[in-house]
Amino acid sequence: MQNNLYRIIFIGDVIGKFGRKFLGLTLPLIRKKYSPDLIVANGENSAGGLGITRKTAGEIYNAGVQVITGGNHIWDKKEALGLLNDDKRIIRPMNFPRSAPGSGCHSFKTKDGCVIQILSLQGRVFMEPVVDNPFLVVDEFLDNNKADISLIDFHAEATAEKQAMGFFLDGRVSAVLGTHTHVQTSDLRILDKGTAYQSDVGMTGSLDSVIGMRIEPVLQKFLTGINHRFEVEKKNLILDMTVMDFDKNSGKAIYVEPVRIHETHYQEQLDILN
Ligand code: FE2
Repeated sequence: MQNNLYRIIFIGDVIGKFGRKFLGLTLPLIRKKYSPDLIVANGENSAGGLGITRKTAGEIYNAGVQVITGGNHIWDKKEALGLLNDDKRIIRPMNFPRSAPGSGCHSFKTKDGCVIQILSLQGRVFMEPVVDNPFLVVDEFLDNNKADISLIDFHAEATAEKQAMGFFLDGRVSAVLGTHTHVQTSDLRILDKGTAYQSDVGMTGSLDSVIGMRIEPVLQKFLTGINHRFEVEKKNLILDMTVMDFDKNSGKAIYVEPVRIHETHYQEQLDILN
């Protein structure tokens, strides 16, 4: 990488043990090909498809991820309460009530003095109404916290809410990337004032699934209205990620690329990566 550029790879929601396994298999090759300065992944579904634990966070770190973002499922496993207080590299949505453990931002300084901050926010449309207005929360935060490069994981259901956030923050942050819907969207671009935007980064999990879970139990719930036990699917794994280069001086995005690594073409992908 040129000295004035900072490359971040953001990896879509890592789903359960098969997502973690595929992350571990592919990330060394991804690092070799793309030489990122920072790798961020959403990990709120890394434990059995719902929640995060010390073990699953440890596996994500071991694969090469440096910062883990959360979302509405971040608290689903009890130990997350302590984990988020202990480990500042795992962040939860900033707009949760103040009493929630952990932090909504992880920031650090690079060797050459560049301040990087990663933020997590949660949407309110079609989601549990437990969080404050994400627009107002991030507006106030950015007024009081300056960084050279700021990346936001906006964990939300509604595309309209995500797009609105992208335009709201265009020129104020380096990237607004959506998570939560687990389907990689084709709208990755750099907005007019230099902010990278994508409605959803996608996921690391099974393509032959309903957003990472076995199809049949999900289908039965829709057919009968009765809750069924959901299980993480292991077939046909993919890893979705977004590669972005930022200018360290301006904080603006100058290059963005959506990538999907596919298990069924794994050998081919291995060849490309090598
Ligand atoms: Fe979520």
